[in-house]
Amino acid sequence: MSADQDWGAYLEEFHRDAPGVTERMLGRARDDAGGDPYQWAAVAVPNDGMVIDLACGSAPLADHLAHDRYLGIDLSRAELDLAVARVGSDRVVRADVTQLPITDDATDTVTCLMALMLVQPLEGVQREIRRVLRPGGMLVALLSGGAPASVADALRWGAVLAALRMPGLRWPNPEAIGPAEQWLDEAFTILSDEVRTFAYPIDDAASARQLIASLYLPDVPADRVETATRVAGSLIGRAIGIPLRRVVARTWP
Ligand SMILES: C[S@@+](CC[C@H](N)C(=O)[O-])C[C@H]1O[C@@H](n2cnc3c(N)ncnc32)[C@H](O)[C@@H]1O
Repeated sequence: MSADQDWGAYLEEFHRDAPGVTERMLGRARDDAGGDPYQWAAVAVPNDGMVIDLACGSAPLADHLAHDRYLGIDLSRAELDLAVARVGSDRVVRADVTQLPITDDATDTVTCLMALMLVQPLEGVQREIRRVLRPGGMLVALLSGGAPASVADALRWGAVLAALRMPGLRWPNPEAIGPAEQWLDEAFTILSDEVRTFAYPIDDAASARQLIASLYLPDVPADRVETATRVAGSLIGRAIGIPLRRVVARTWP
């Protein structure tokens, strides 16, 4: 896909065809303490108040919160079907997160997990986060964590990327992977910005396939995806580290 082609259409089709794919992959990944990425995000969420989960997908975060505090928002009907099964239809809204059907200062916390790299325009979702958060409200974002932390993971990802013939994974908003000061405006104080690696176990051919199926690969020919799946399959019995980043920020009271 060239730079001016439509990531929005690609993402819609991707999540229509494979709803819950992000959760199926990340939900099996574990940090050194045995926690998954959604638990890591959830511990940064304050213990009370309303939580709006932008680009919620299948709503995996809701497993860690009381459902009466939770509202998930996503554009994908297929993802939202899974979210509704989990939290109920009154806790889910279908909307574009750059145009939220929500009043100003409506929530104590906004979460946005694995989506700020995707949602376009990034300024649109930033503006909406600021608008719907009450003064002193909290943002918890989970993002791709950049380069692998260990040599073993660098070699494993290097082999997968070589099979895909890509220098690295691509995102519509690469700036969201950069320093938080560059994409969070002055309305926010950054409280923490941490990277943690989650080991995804490749137990069998199905988990190898699931790993590759969870990657956004616009314009990558099917034969390269198949080769990358075989490369991942050669790692059966091992794990591949997924570096993730958690940014926690607060608006000025
Ligand atoms: C990588 S998934 C993350 C899902 C979930 N937060 C998780 O971590 O499992 C990205 C989600 O962003 C949603 N999305 C992308 N662009 C969107 C937009 N403009 N408005 C609402 N949702 C959007 C997709 O439908 C998809 O469910």
